[in-house]
Amino acid sequence: AKDPVRVLVTGAAGQIGYALVPMIARGVMLGPDQPVILHMLDIPPAAEALNGVKMELVDAAFPLLKGVVATTDVVEACTGVNIAVMVGGFPRKEGMERKDVMSKNVSIYKSQASALKNHAAANCKVLVVANPANTNALILKEFAPSIPAKNITCLTRLDHNRALGQISERLSIQVSDVKNVIIWGNHSSTQYPDVNHATVKTQGGETPVRQLVADDDWLNREFITTVQQRGAAIIKARKLSSALSAASAACDHIRDWVLGTAEGTWVSMGVYSDGSYGVPAGLIYSFPVTCRDGEWNIVQGLPIDDFSRKKLDATAQELTEEKALAYSCLS
Ligand code: NAI
Repeated sequence: AKDPVRVLVTGAAGQIGYALVPMIARGVMLGPDQPVILHMLDIPPAAEALNGVKMELVDAAFPLLKGVVATTDVVEACTGVNIAVMVGGFPRKEGMERKDVMSKNVSIYKSQASALKNHAAANCKVLVVANPANTNALILKEFAPSIPAKNITCLTRLDHNRALGQISERLSIQVSDVKNVIIWGNHSSTQYPDVNHATVKTQGGETPVRQLVADDDWLNREFITTVQQRGAAIIKARKLSSALSAASAACDHIRDWVLGTAEGTWVSMGVYSDGSYGVPAGLIYSFPVTCRDGEWNIVQGLPIDDFSRKKLDATAQELTEEKALAYSCLS
């Protein structure tokens, strides 16, 4: 039998946490033959609720779940973890300045970076979900210099999956037949959902989405804004932000990273830019990636048209500004 993998979920008493921990315990993230030990962190005001989640995990009698650590102590939470899913953060409240929210999250991610650097297992893989996800991941990377930059990522898979979903609805086809959309840039409304390389499995083989959706106006406008604004649409409908879809996307992200992407298929991940596609190095930016043997690689050589170029640059510009704002909170 395999040794259990220790998976940290921060903010585990929150909405996404509540959807995510049962998925992990059922093998959705790491596969049906991989035992897990869950480490759940939250802050003292949520300690009682966190303990309630732990009680439910016991009650669910998950065969793969070999242990649960539920704590408000960041060192205890981070000790020995192989995978860290960072969902905890400070939410933007009405009337708060952007800088104030950034400042709170910078201090959270700075201290959690130290705890991971000092106590996580060697080669721990980190996924930041909490917003501003790209910049929180960047701060985590800066303050955990002993963790390889390649091990620190942020979640844009939800946006990627939303884009697949929109194409499948539009064409009335199975979502599993659509692939290779791309989310470029920031997990924010400046992200660029790109269908120029996306294809659909049809009887005639792989057919470009652009050929099947003959309506360029829809693809160039409504499709893009629907994906960009989907988070707000969910809040309007549910009076709460996306949680089950975010949890599911977090599982997809880690599963593909650890177990690999299918031949001929890429996914979107926020990763440390090496300057590919003219994106400034040193940002955490969402790119198309393939994964193999536990490592991601940016898909190279895709042609970028003028329309796309402007959108890749605009979202990079926003990330550069976010980075500057985050650094201004450090001093
Ligand atoms: P939530 O407010 O229900 O849960 C957040 C939890 O984090 C709370 O239990 C809170 O006590 C905890 N927390 C706060 N500070 C913490 C700290 N320093 N250490 C540990 N835990 C801490 O929020 P929800 O809906 O679960 O969302 C979580 C985050 O995920 C938010 O930042 C949200 O904006 C983000 N998000 C990101 C998405 C993405 O695609 N990247 C999609 C959806 C949400």
